[in-house]
Amino acid sequence: MRVLIMQEVSPAGLAELEGHELVRGSDPSGCDGVVCYLIDRIDEAFLATPGLRGLATVSVGLDHIDLAAAERHRIPIAYTPDVLTEATADLTFALLLGAARRLGQSERYLRAGRWQSWSFDLLLGTDVHGKTLGIIGPGRIGRAVARRADGFSMRVLFAGRDRSELERVLAESDFVVVTVPLSESTRHLIGAAELARMKQGAILVNTSRGPVVDEAALAESLASGHLGGAGLDVFENEPHVHPALLACENALMVPHIASATRETRDGMARLACRGLAQILRGERPPNLANPQVWPVEAESR
Ligand code: GLV
Repeated sequence: MRVLIMQEVSPAGLAELEGHELVRGSDPSGCDGVVCYLIDRIDEAFLATPGLRGLATVSVGLDHIDLAAAERHRIPIAYTPDVLTEATADLTFALLLGAARRLGQSERYLRAGRWQSWSFDLLLGTDVHGKTLGIIGPGRIGRAVARRADGFSMRVLFAGRDRSELERVLAESDFVVVTVPLSESTRHLIGAAELARMKQGAILVNTSRGPVVDEAALAESLASGHLGGAGLDVFENEPHVHPALLACENALMVPHIASATRETRDGMARLACRGLAQILRGERPPNLANPQVWPVEAESR
């Protein structure tokens, strides 16, 4: 069978597709399966490709795929839950600690040769231990962040879909971490009103998807001194970063690397490619994102 590989995949992943003909590019015509990434837009026209039998995304997020169209065209999708949970929680906590202790500013200060002497009030940050952490999105990654917070003796609050719960968590937390998937109901979930509800000096960390947070409102809150800092792995319009955020010294920002460890990326590539190989063999993969399309009947193709 022919499989379209839309971006480079590590050899560990490709090994799972042994025996298949692999083609590179972005055109699925004539392909049975596809391996894509979160930067590939998988729309209705793509999913309607005649003969297409399955897709794997090397990501846990699915917002780049038109899931309703995948259901209409009965295209099973394999994705990568679980394998990136711990690495993503590590980076989330790294951003939390880094924003609290002003690591970005401190490093820029040192590299610029501005360090003259130890001083009592140089680059003072805020304590993490003993503080309250609000986790918006009590899923796998949110719970993994909570386990780390336990080691820092933090009080942990969770907010799910309930609006009053969200408002309470925003108002009571010293640190707010956002780990929800992006959907129409979570787009700009954190906007000007939600940021205003956060405590003066609180820190926001986003490792979910950029559009969950209104970047312009966040930049305004950081610049005004209401929020004390932010740790951001994701942005509304990647790889473009809002110029107002770039101007905020108290925003610690990294280029969407939460799952970027060698071990985790290999695990993701393996899981995605294995899932696609299973789909193409007619086996239901354990990491099927849209179980409602299974089993796929031959006549629906
Ligand atoms: C990364 O953002 C992912 O969805 O895997």
